[in-house]
Amino acid sequence: MSNVAKLELEGKVYELPIVVGTEGEKAIDVSALRSATGHITSDDGYGNTGSCNSAITFIDGEKGILRYRGIPIEELAEQSTFVEAAYLLIYGHLPNSDEMKRFSDLLTKNENIHEDMKHHFEGFPANAHPMAILSAMINASSCFYPGLMGPANKARFDIHAARLISQVRTIAAFSYRKSHGLPTIYPKRQYKYTANFLHMMFSDIYEDYELKPEVVKALDLIFLLHADHEQNCSTSTVRMVASSQANMFASAAAGVCALWGPLHGGANQAVIEMLGQIHRSGDDGSRFIQAAKDKNSGQRLMGFGHRVYKNYDPRARIIKKACDELLNSMHVTDPLLDIAKRLEEAALKESYFIERKLYPNVDFYSGIIMRAIGIPTEMFTVIFAIGRMPGWIANFKEIMDDPKARIYRPRQVYVGPVGQRYTPIAQRK
Ligand code: SDX
Repeated sequence: MSNVAKLELEGKVYELPIVVGTEGEKAIDVSALRSATGHITSDDGYGNTGSCNSAITFIDGEKGILRYRGIPIEELAEQSTFVEAAYLLIYGHLPNSDEMKRFSDLLTKNENIHEDMKHHFEGFPANAHPMAILSAMINASSCFYPGLMGPANKARFDIHAARLISQVRTIAAFSYRKSHGLPTIYPKRQYKYTANFLHMMFSDIYEDYELKPEVVKALDLIFLLHADHEQNCSTSTVRMVASSQANMFASAAAGVCALWGPLHGGANQAVIEMLGQIHRSGDDGSRFIQAAKDKNSGQRLMGFGHRVYKNYDPRARIIKKACDELLNSMHVTDPLLDIAKRLEEAALKESYFIERKLYPNVDFYSGIIMRAIGIPTEMFTVIFAIGRMPGWIANFKEIMDDPKARIYRPRQVYVGPVGQRYTPIAQRK
């Protein structure tokens, strides 16, 4: 196989190097294209563009494969925990027992936000969307850690990472309590990561929330499955901000904003709203599927389709199984789960979805689990952000550690007006 691609342009032939990844992915290196040919590439939505080399997560969209640092997501879902997977993503290997204890202790030590941060919560209206609060509070909390900027950032990376992973959970729980007019519940030292989040969300000042192992395990799995996903929209945003050497908290806060969109992390909330709409309308799903196929309806089958997966999202398969297990163990039935299953079955028989290789993605079933746990719909994308934080930090670190890292600055093809001159206002129409 040749290690160059030949490009014939205006009578000249250019040789462009071929880059091959460790999983056999092939890329044409165009980093010298403009200087050699005067041309740039054009790739709306970056569907064909590799923005970086990364060693963190691998996805094979055709085969429905997802691996964190080379380990299949199915094995991690079965045997690991969110905190262990977070360490794997950030530091590149599964922690030994000393490393795991040190990491876990660092998370515990940094689980509280600065007490002055609580005043910021007072400024938000009760109905403020928790993703707005989360992004604002992540940036606000960086004001309490002056060492975040500059070289100190590298030397204190571990503590900054632990603070961010631990406090995103505390900020999320505090914003939930505030929006429901409930007293703040502080973390407890003896609780591990996910149990502490549930405690801070649902305990009362006079009675602790009952931590059912199956509920803690299901939410921990949701966090683990969302922990990273190569160069998705929000992770690319984190890398874009990190490439200017902005600090870790600023990069993560930007990631929260990108994740919020209904085409991305906001889809888990949109799926439940869609299933609820179908349920209330008495539609068996067929009317909605017809609408989702009609471009003029403005409706999409939320939780379906993916830029990379042209096969079943492996995370959706794992979550669907966990849905059944959790609801059975809680002796809970949810009509929305039945509708989701019927919708999936019907859609996967429709040529529209088959031809476009549209399958359920991670968001199609995740909301059912969160509903069963009692997490309100408006918090679903926040749960996604808590899960994705280690992936964002791992990508931030990859840029921070790269001595050849450059600022991300794409080019464009200008299609605006030409040959314009300035006209004084008196002469304008
Ligand atoms: C996440 O990138 C990641 O890795 C993201 C993520 C992660 O972990 O970070 O996996 C998390 O964001 C999952 C995706 C969650 N979003 C949704 O479920 C929203 C619904 N899905 C879509 O809107 C859509 O599928 C995207 C946004 C996910 C992907 O969009 P693309 O790759 O730009 O695909 P497209 O919009 O160009 O669609 C191709 C065709 C179009 O039809 P044609 O123009 O070819 O006729 O498929 C159609 C689309 O109209 N289509 C859908 C559809 N998704 C795509 N039609 C109906 N329902 C859908 N859900």
